Amino acid sequence: MSRVLIVGAGLTGSLCACLLRRELQNKVQIEVWDKARGSGGRMSTTRPPDSSSHSADLGAQYITSTSSYAQSHQRFYSELLSAGVLQPLDSLVEGLKHRDGDENYMTPQGMSSVVKHFLSQSGADLFLERHVTGLYRRGASWEVQRKVGGSEMFDAVVLTMPAPQILQLQGDVGQMLSVSQKQQLEDVEFSSRFAVALFFPPDVVFSFPWSARYVSDSSIIRYIAADSRKRNADVLGRGPSLVVHTSVPFGLKHLEEDKEAVQPIILQELHKLLPGLPEPISIKCQKWRYSQVLTSVPDSPGHMTLLQRPPLLCAGDSFVHSNFSGCVESALSALSALKASL
Ligand SMILES: Cc1cc2nc3c(=O)[nH]c(=O)nc-3n(C[C@H](O)[C@H](O)[C@H](O)COP(=O)(O)OP(=O)(O)OC[C@H]3O[C@@H](n4cnc5c(N)ncnc54)[C@H](O)[C@@H]3O)c2cc1C
Ligand SMILES: *[C@@H]1O[C@H](CO)[C@@H](O)[C@H](O)[C@H]1NC(C)=O
Repeated sequence: MSRVLIVGAGLTGSLCACLLRRELQNKVQIEVWDKARGSGGRMSTTRPPDSSSHSADLGAQYITSTSSYAQSHQRFYSELLSAGVLQPLDSLVEGLKHRDGDENYMTPQGMSSVVKHFLSQSGADLFLERHVTGLYRRGASWEVQRKVGGSEMFDAVVLTMPAPQILQLQGDVGQMLSVSQKQQLEDVEFSSRFAVALFFPPDVVFSFPWSARYVSDSSIIRYIAADSRKRNADVLGRGPSLVVHTSVPFGLKHLEEDKEAVQPIILQELHKLLPGLPEPISIKCQKWRYSQVLTSVPDSPGHMTLLQRPPLLCAGDSFVHSNFSGCVESALSALSALKASL
């Protein structure tokens, strides 16, 4: 039995784990490690500290299937739809570009439920607050070092964090990279932005008609969602929530500032855009240093093999594009490489 470690409990990591289990059944023992306190990665759903009836998506907002991916990734969409994880997005999203054949979906339980679905299907052992700091080659195994609590040995490792974070790892990763691979990873560019979630008392009803709106007349705010309405959570008696995404230029400009210092600027702009907004009971701000991929690794199959035996692979949206279909492509491609090496 091979011991496989997947680093990152985001969509790519959870899909890798799930597909690996479905292909190799009980021939593998799968562990998923994430440095965060919860799973989801950039498909993150947050809750205020003092309420279990509120939640909001701070990262990815909805899932789109284009006509071509609706075919090639059909099994993933139908699986999530029949599990009730995805539902058609029926409410009004102002400014959403619609192309023929596009289908938009929302997640009634929040975006992280997509990741949780695949994780639970995978039967993998999930370890949170496990921050990988380095990888060392030890004969036919990889010794994986973590920030707290020593290191462990695995027969294969898949890294699914953004390319800049792969380059930060210590140990033998740097040596495994060829000159051109290193250059390709260094050339990956991400946008940065801030996200703010506001949670309101249960009786608050938003006065605007949309569930989300792309903002075109602000240099600070790019997108606002009545998150609870978007997810039809209002009708389930869930607490109202609002999510704001800043523009990328604003994100870049304030990238090195503390989110506590940036949050008031965003809120001031929000009140200009939505005058009369009621007082929230709780606010959460998130800095997405690595938000979405602007430039991915060119001509990539969806993953990068750093070493064939013992296998060390990189995957994630850095190798495709930043959305659901990009992560599916990456996981499929990493799976076929892993199968061939195990
Ligand atoms: C603001 C925003 C809006 C978006 N909107 C959409 C949208 O509407 N639709 C859509 O389809 N996509 C959207 N995306 C993109 C989508 O969220 C990402 O493409 C997708 O979630 C990436 O998944 P991933 O698993 O590849 O990476 P991630 O989700 O980033 O997962 C990587 C994981 O690795 C962990 N990690 C990193 N370093 C380490 C380490 N050293 N040790 C252990 N763990 C580590 C991280 O904590 C993280 O959980 C959006 C993203 C953002 C930020
Ligand atoms: C994902 O993003 C890519 C690149 O921006 C785009 O070509 C593709 O159509 C998107 N996929 C979906 C399903 O929206």
